[in-house]
Amino acid sequence: MTFKLKLLIFLFFMAAVSVLWSSDFSRKLQLQLKNQSTCPCERCFSKNDVLLRKHMRRSIEPFLTANTKLSEEDFKWWKHFQNERRNYSYYNATVHKLFQIFPPVPDLKGPSSNKCRTCAVVGNSVNLKGSHYGPLIDFQDIVIRMNFAKIKGYENDVGTRTTHRVMYPESAVDLDNSTHLVLFPFKILDIEWAIKATTSTEIPQPGFFWQQVMVVNPAFMKYSHVVWLGKKGRYPSTGFMTFILALHICDEIHVFGYGADHKGNWSHYFEVLKNKKLRTGQHPGQHEYNILKQMAEEKTIQFYTGR
Ligand SMILES: *[C@@H]1O[C@H](CO)[C@@H](O)[C@H](O)[C@H]1NC(C)=O
Ligand SMILES: *[C@@H]1O[C@H](CO)[C@@H](O)[C@H](O)[C@H]1NC(C)=O
Ligand SMILES: *[C@@H]1O[C@H](CO)[C@@H](O)[C@H](O)[C@H]1NC(C)=O
Ligand SMILES: *[C@@H]1O[C@H](CO)[C@@H](O)[C@H](O)[C@H]1NC(C)=O
Ligand SMILES: *[C@@H]1O[C@H](CO)[C@@H](O)[C@H](O)[C@H]1NC(C)=O
Repeated sequence: MTFKLKLLIFLFFMAAVSVLWSSDFSRKLQLQLKNQSTCPCERCFSKNDVLLRKHMRRSIEPFLTANTKLSEEDFKWWKHFQNERRNYSYYNATVHKLFQIFPPVPDLKGPSSNKCRTCAVVGNSVNLKGSHYGPLIDFQDIVIRMNFAKIKGYENDVGTRTTHRVMYPESAVDLDNSTHLVLFPFKILDIEWAIKATTSTEIPQPGFFWQQVMVVNPAFMKYSHVVWLGKKGRYPSTGFMTFILALHICDEIHVFGYGADHKGNWSHYFEVLKNKKLRTGQHPGQHEYNILKQMAEEKTIQFYTGR
């Protein structure tokens, strides 16, 4: 080989390395060592983020991938969510089937690695009514909404964009092709539903494609309950787990539509809750809310409490 050719190969190799370095690798580094010197945001997580430092476990994978190994212990915890009767091998086989269809690692679309990824996490609280938060919500890179969250008729208060919608089969709504489905599986049937909905043409709704689906790791749900909530309540609310998810996938977090309004009303902004006593059901609502409040005081997140 001539020297020139070797040099060319070497240069090519270095270029490839630097591209890899600047994209994927630096992203991972940023996530692991989030720090004023590497983080691309105006404000980054620091030693003042007491609660975040205490509870955050970066090693927990938020989404299932083809290589995720759910421990039998975590499976046991997850089983009790909905009295799942089927066993661990059945779960394992179902997930295996899922990744014969889905890409091995879900693609979290968003700005590139050296940009600050800002997120709006939008809950469904009635405190959004009359808030005029719409433009501020739409301004963020990623806009995460939950379940039946309505947009039409509420644009001024809740915005119009949805890049990610958190759902499970019982709360499924139609998605357009620019919205990702974030599936919180509460039982094996929910994973089977994702397989069916993306492979079968018989199911009339929702019309989405497998490229758009991300399935939350059951171990992540356990972590939200055990580590973040100290096991309070029977299980965490979907809203709370979504918030913890945002801590793992976003650089800067803006939280809207959580908690009651100023009169103590826990309704949704788009409907009146029929059972007034229900409040937050099986979830430790007040405790979840206090965690958000503390993180807002520590300036880890920006918390917009509405009206
Ligand atoms: C933050 O960055 C400094 C300087 O680059 C480095 O020495 C330090 O180890 C980093 N801290 C953490 C927690 O990663
Ligand atoms: C798991 O359940 C399946 C039926 O769904 C059964 O055939 C299998 O023997 C069970 N495996 C174990 C380890 O219990
Ligand atoms: C889980 O599934 C994988 C792939 O199908 C298999 O190799 C592994 O042995 C299974 N483990 C258990 C405990 O069933
Ligand atoms: C998404 O939907 C819009 C409107 O329905 C359509 O114009 C566009 O081509 C679609 N994009 C893809 C990638 O399917
Ligand atoms: C709670 O909010 C809903 C929706 O705005 C409203 O219809 C209802 O009257 C409110 N309830 C109370 C007790 O304020």
